[in-house]
Amino acid sequence: MSDQDTILDHLKRQGISRRTFLKFCTLTASSMALPLSSVSMMVDALAAAPRPRVIWISGQECTGCSESLLRAYDVDENGTILSATVENMILNMISLEYHNTLMAPSGVAAELSRDQAINGGGHVVVIDGSIPLMGDGAWSCVGGRSALDVIQETVTNAALVVAVGNCACFGGLPKAVPNPTQAHGVDDLLTNLGLPAHLQLNTQAPLINIPGCPPVPEVMTGVLVNFILTSQAPALDHLKRPLPYFGQTVHDNCSRNAHYRAGQYASSFDGSEAQKGYCLMKLGCKGTLTYNACTTTKWNKGTSYPMFSGHGCLGCSEPDFWDQQFGNRQYESFYTPVV
Ligand code: SF4
Ligand code: F3S
Repeated sequence: MSDQDTILDHLKRQGISRRTFLKFCTLTASSMALPLSSVSMMVDALAAAPRPRVIWISGQECTGCSESLLRAYDVDENGTILSATVENMILNMISLEYHNTLMAPSGVAAELSRDQAINGGGHVVVIDGSIPLMGDGAWSCVGGRSALDVIQETVTNAALVVAVGNCACFGGLPKAVPNPTQAHGVDDLLTNLGLPAHLQLNTQAPLINIPGCPPVPEVMTGVLVNFILTSQAPALDHLKRPLPYFGQTVHDNCSRNAHYRAGQYASSFDGSEAQKGYCLMKLGCKGTLTYNACTTTKWNKGTSYPMFSGHGCLGCSEPDFWDQQFGNRQYESFYTPVV
């Protein structure tokens, strides 16, 4: 593949139809709240753009964030993976140069791929998992190097850094009390802690946080498409989350919201009230405090989301959700009501 390969060149070589490409652009524009009239502009611009080099680095994580991005594989009746679905199109639009779990090379060849991809800069770094500082990062190592060390090197000349999942954004589960490895999210190491130089990240690239446990795949896709189109980050909120997806709480668009406004609350998960769609707030739903795209984009190809399926929101896209802290509030468990 030449460095000048456009996305359209690549899609043609992969045998991906224009119809699939158009559908992908339409769905992505919709998830970004762009008008339908912008789709043809998006199609032309994406088709002519080169595929950005993406380096995916993992810290302390469960691989759920990668699974989320990849979960959209369709399989045929024989279990064969169909590779060109609308949902996994994004993997054909980026050049994924390094990913611990997905890449074919291993060992020295894998590390060489990363070195080559960052040579010259201008790449996109995606980080999942938190970064432990204990032992100068020794609690998360691959190939004899700490995640901290690799991330420090990889972000230096990057064009964009994207933290995916609650762990990379805010520390997530590894940072939960008592945080035995001194885990942190990416932003902590860029700005917040006054750390010694050897523990800091230095880069001029903007950081986009896409939290969630896991993050919504269409949000990851939308952010990467936006970068391909504009070479910059979208508008962000105070936690560096992209506003097109994190501008509203999941409560705002929840199917149970009408019952919430009518004061109709379910008193158990398995009773008739919950089945009628009553609000789950008194069973611990944190939807009123949680900004994410779950109720607009929905999960599993637009099928559902936690409250629609009968479970409250755990607040998985908010800082410190494992410790159940929102502002000054402190909860005993995921099932402690907000009010
Ligand atoms: Fe809001 Fe949760 Fe009630 Fe839905 S179930 S209306 S998100 S409080
Ligand atoms: Fe997470 Fe709440 Fe959505 S738990 S998946 S932000 S509904």
